[in-house]
Amino acid sequence: PRNLLDFEGWSPERLQGLLESSDTMLQVLSRPVKKVPALQGLSVCTAFFENSTRTKISFELAAKRMSADVVSFAASSSSLSKGESLRDTIETLTSYQVDAYVVRHAASGAAHLVARYSGKPVINAGDGRRAHPTQALLDAYTIRQEYGDLKGKKVAIIGDILHSRVARSNAELLPKLGAEVVLCGPATLLPLELGQMPGVTVTTNPLEAVRGAHAVMALRLQHERMEGGYLASLQDYIDTYQVNSALMAEAESGAIALHPGPINRDVEISSEIADGESSRILKQVENGQAVRMAVLYSLLVGRD
Ligand code: CP
Repeated sequence: PRNLLDFEGWSPERLQGLLESSDTMLQVLSRPVKKVPALQGLSVCTAFFENSTRTKISFELAAKRMSADVVSFAASSSSLSKGESLRDTIETLTSYQVDAYVVRHAASGAAHLVARYSGKPVINAGDGRRAHPTQALLDAYTIRQEYGDLKGKKVAIIGDILHSRVARSNAELLPKLGAEVVLCGPATLLPLELGQMPGVTVTTNPLEAVRGAHAVMALRLQHERMEGGYLASLQDYIDTYQVNSALMAEAESGAIALHPGPINRDVEISSEIADGESSRILKQVENGQAVRMAVLYSLLVGRD
């Protein structure tokens, strides 16, 4: 595929190729001079219509590490505020001969629109609750780094599944790589239809979710997308679903704890786990840069 909007059309072999290519990129990042000429002469536009720390910074660094020119489009200070449409905005940027777009938007499907109106490779950096494919790739990479392979691994994802593009992208990606995914949360935040995806089950029982799990991923409660009563109470959520020492003790011995960030500390994950030995949260962040280098290289140069 020419775009990474979600994982539709991405074969397990091509996805494995991206993970292997990420190994090479991680080696580049371990050198004293972390720059290669792979994308020299090409330009990448990061177009973020919604806030981000990790995804935006790591994509910009990833492109710069490979010598691409990077232009950052900030929606809040652009002519969108004067009523310019998304289509006119993208057509304007494309006239400057941008070679690829990295797009984050609150609306599901926005990255597809950018792909249609730019005709250039587009990487979805998170659209609404639909998909966040590079987050899932860096999650897969972090689990593979721990266990050598995704095959036969169980990954429990616990939290606000309803609003989570990270949960949806992991549910799409991890089974393609041979892992089993269990999605868990209170009934109000757990879309049962996700349990119909291949390799995915859903449960409201956190003990059932974590038993036998090699990785336990906590997801942020997206309070900004919750109007009205999604939770019996915040304390009730914490008591039942918080990823803490007691819950991790029920997982497979040596299981790792993950969180895509940003974290609501001591809500969906205890500080003890987030900062503890089993945590790979900062590894996820570190790996994100290498994985995004691999994705940019794959789409812009056409090789993994
Ligand atoms: N995980 C993630 O997408 O974080 P940001 O919103 O900071 O990019």
